[in-house]
Amino acid sequence: MAAKAWGGAFDGQTDPRVERFTESISFDARLAEVDVRGSKAHSQMLSEVGLISEQEKNQIHAALDEILATILAGKFPFRIELEDIHMHIESALIERLGDTGRKLHTGRSRNDQVATDLKLHVRDAIDRLDGLLVDLQRAFIGRAERDEGVILPGYTHLQRAQPVLASQYWCAWCEKFERDRTRLRDARVRLNESPLGAAALAGTTLPINRQRTAELLGFDRPAANSLDVSSDRDFVAETVFDLTMIATHLSNWAEEWILWCTTEFGFIKLPNAYTTGSSIMPQKRNPDVLELIRGKAGRVVGNLQHVLVLIKGLPLAYNRDLQEDKVALFDALDQVEASLELAAAIVEHAELKKETISARIEEGFLDATTLMEYLIQKGVPMRTGHETVGKLVRLAESKACTLAQLPLADFQSIAPQVEQDVFEALGVVNAVRRFRSEGSGGTASVAEQVARWKQKLAST
Ligand code: ARG
Repeated sequence: MAAKAWGGAFDGQTDPRVERFTESISFDARLAEVDVRGSKAHSQMLSEVGLISEQEKNQIHAALDEILATILAGKFPFRIELEDIHMHIESALIERLGDTGRKLHTGRSRNDQVATDLKLHVRDAIDRLDGLLVDLQRAFIGRAERDEGVILPGYTHLQRAQPVLASQYWCAWCEKFERDRTRLRDARVRLNESPLGAAALAGTTLPINRQRTAELLGFDRPAANSLDVSSDRDFVAETVFDLTMIATHLSNWAEEWILWCTTEFGFIKLPNAYTTGSSIMPQKRNPDVLELIRGKAGRVVGNLQHVLVLIKGLPLAYNRDLQEDKVALFDALDQVEASLELAAAIVEHAELKKETISARIEEGFLDATTLMEYLIQKGVPMRTGHETVGKLVRLAESKACTLAQLPLADFQSIAPQVEQDVFEALGVVNAVRRFRSEGSGGTASVAEQVARWKQKLAST
């Protein structure tokens, strides 16, 4: 059994059930790299202020590198009685260096250490997520050329509403994922203050230099208050919320495409590499990946609740409850990163079924609102125009035809303001061409949006 770091005040041994219950090595081993980064910065600072010698610092750095390499190679023996990654690395250091290793934890506690590690880990993750979000945006915008001119129904209440160009959909998703990017960027700014040197909760009487460790680790500054920062997990909650928002957006998109690849919709063909078959029904091609992206979003929402409930009842400062934050944070990160990667691949390789879409695109009176706006331009008050078009829709329904198939005389029997040029407003192609408001789903706006995204993504 390994000696405990707090052995001095204790007689007798820890119940093995307590060791199993309190360990975190089974989930925090992934912090090894950031833990070593933090310890190197800390020991560098210790040597600069004279708390350890230059030579001791060099020995510590070399040993830490060695330990990390062993861990990354999967050759490091983890033992639950050493509890967490921090104790494992420190005890391996002491094993190698004896008293020199015993100096590393000078002016530091696991409380500021774990907060530092977690911030470094989250900061790296945010940078990776940003790249994954951009990859997904690139996949959407990469479709623009392929799908140019394809008109899709736009829906409200999942009922056909108005026609939009396919790329209006692609740009819509880009906007949502762009907000997700900015949310993460904001979170990164707020989290980037160094906990190191807060020690257990109150700071230290030793002459450490917190500015220096902050600088060495790429933090903007040391956090101002030791009690605050040693207990702060706002950044975990905030990041998991940001992940939840990404997962929610992915789930919305997945749900839409699950519908779109049904026989009933028939808008999209998913790439074979991203669908699965059935063990009994030979014809099946199932959108399991999309379904799991939707399903995992539920899991990530659960992770957010986990973090918030975990921290809501805690008095200052560190409480052991905080150890559980990592379970939710790491799971949220893993699920969202994997979902984003697969989403980008599916978006890139899926195929719009142009014929199936266009075969039914004139169903559902997608041009009714365009007709109403045509009437407004002929001087008809909006509410009157709405009612008039309602009547025309009913007339077309009774004749089982589209609005564009009604003869001029029918229009004029209900709305005398209608002239021959109405046929330049009817049908989805005309409707899409006529949209002129900024940000609309029409030709000019969509071309402008796609160009703006291309430019933005080229310089990202
Ligand atoms: N394994 C702990 C955690 O993840 C490290 C901090 C332990 N601190 C303490 N005072 N017991 O939170």
